[in-house]
Amino acid sequence: MSKAHVIAIDGPSGSGKSTVAKQLAFELGLLYIDTGSMFRGLAYSTDANNIAMESGPQLIEFLNTCNLEYGKSKDELISIKGKNLTHIIREHHVSKLASIISQLPEVRNYLLDFQRNLVVKNLCVMEGRDIGTVVFPDAFCKIFITASVDIRANRRLKQLKEQGNEDVTLEQVIADVKKRDDSDINRTVAPLKQADDALLLDTSDLNLDQILEKLKTIVSDKALQTGINL
Ligand code: DC
Repeated sequence: MSKAHVIAIDGPSGSGKSTVAKQLAFELGLLYIDTGSMFRGLAYSTDANNIAMESGPQLIEFLNTCNLEYGKSKDELISIKGKNLTHIIREHHVSKLASIISQLPEVRNYLLDFQRNLVVKNLCVMEGRDIGTVVFPDAFCKIFITASVDIRANRRLKQLKEQGNEDVTLEQVIADVKKRDDSDINRTVAPLKQADDALLLDTSDLNLDQILEKLKTIVSDKALQTGINL
């Protein structure tokens, strides 16, 4: 059976997967697809448009008319209804909304189609929670990236401070990370889960260069095994 030309990178929030997935795509000259940004964009936009975050006709109508666009340009990763949301979706409050909206089957189904349609023939790195299990179960390479809760919370805190969120404390971030893990792992539709054939990479004690080296080795081994030209 031929495999999808997708490097599927999944894992919990703060595992460092976004940074490494992006860098890996850059170094291999591949398209990078950040699926979390899509959940964030829809979460921000439903909230801003006073759409109830629950299953129902109002949400379906919104999804059918939202005109979600991904990767329009270098500075426009995500836009909805023509509005560039690339920066605002990184704000702390949007993370919470995204966690809520990602539980809704209508939203997951909408994004499942959207994500599959983004990948036509070209190789890409797609990053999220359910890429190797649900979106591309036939991806030629699947990696599940994780790290301890403390390490992930500290990384997240650093990121938030760099983005100007000075008031956030480590305790708050630890509580948020645990809460998000819990809802990602326990949701009914497409929960966060390592695919049976995914390789596990714990990044707790690794720096960016070390993670990238490991990823590149995994990807080239898989490409060789499956006859895919990188
Ligand atoms: O990776 P992130 O923090 O940007 O993701 C934002 C939210 O979206 C997070 O609560 C998990 C959810 N998500 C998901 O359910 N499935 C994905 N493929 C990607 C993200």
